[in-house]
Amino acid sequence: APGWRGLIEEYRDRLPVTDATPVVTLLEGATPLIAAPRLSERVGAEVRLKVEGANPTGSFKDRGMTLAISKALEAGAEAVVCGSTGNTSASAAAYAARAGLTCAVLIPDGYIALGKLAQALIHGARVLQIRGNFDAALDIVRELGETAPVTVVNSINPYRIEGQKTGAFEIVDVLGDAPELHCMPVGNAGNITAYWKGYREEQDAGRITKLPRMLGFQAAGAAPIVLGHPVEQPETVATAIRIGRPASWYGATAAATESGGAIAAVTDEEILAAYRFLAEEESVFCEPASAAAVAGLLKVGAPAGARVVCVLTGHGLKDPDIAIGQIAVPAVVDADPGAVRRALGL
Ligand code: F0G
Repeated sequence: APGWRGLIEEYRDRLPVTDATPVVTLLEGATPLIAAPRLSERVGAEVRLKVEGANPTGSFKDRGMTLAISKALEAGAEAVVCGSTGNTSASAAAYAARAGLTCAVLIPDGYIALGKLAQALIHGARVLQIRGNFDAALDIVRELGETAPVTVVNSINPYRIEGQKTGAFEIVDVLGDAPELHCMPVGNAGNITAYWKGYREEQDAGRITKLPRMLGFQAAGAAPIVLGHPVEQPETVATAIRIGRPASWYGATAAATESGGAIAAVTDEEILAAYRFLAEEESVFCEPASAAAVAGLLKVGAPAGARVVCVLTGHGLKDPDIAIGQIAVPAVVDADPGAVRRALGL
């Protein structure tokens, strides 16, 4: 949006900042809420996609990071740390570099999409791959937060949730009210906690006439909230949400029960089918975890004509390996018009 000043300036009166807060921004937010005509037709509802891949580092994490890093700087921090399935580390690395802070990230060895790893490294973070999954990384980060001079910028940092609630503000700004149904992926469960907080604040401010039903979707192989117990060895093609012990577990269940929604599971097959459908039919390339929102919507359906928002949390280019694995390798032909015509059947 022309003149957009970034989340903190745009929503300053609804965020925990003062004139003393040094604003660290890459002009995140103001992401597109685009109509999805073919998905709408399939579901029999009015579906829109909140394209969070349009944020500066390609995921919704930037909403939380602008605030978390600004507040860390205000508090005099010199270093920040996070555990991550990839996107948090990419965002933390970029915002920390902007702020002149040291950034350390712990990622699960071998289970992070290449685009995200490249981002953390190119922005100058100190990256360690740990022999363990995200849950193990977050345990270590929590301990470092208590024993070392570092600020934790995972979503257990309340400023992350505060920043991310602005996604709900933007949806209301565009629709003029809340949607009937709000669909999103759930991993560590910070984002669903944040959106629910955002919608409730909109209600308290009298800006919406109703709250949405919140539908959160976990991958079937990493669905602790659906199962009702932690998952020791979470597995899913959607590595962003390969999490067995969500930190904001309570926030997710509260959002679902208070809103009359649900936390449900979708299989990797359903995720990849939705991922391809979005790319082929709606021209939106998101990463697999994001497609879980749409896989879930296709699975549970929506009331006829209802306004539905699906949050597509990260850009498709984050995880090129998955995309390449879904398509055929292009044919190689001679540099000759005849060969090209024959290959294309023209
Ligand atoms: N979608 C994407 C693309 C993500 O990267 C994440 C989480 C989620 C959905 C789930 O959000 O954790 O708030 O429920 N990624 C974190 C990370 C865990 O480290 O980048 P959540």
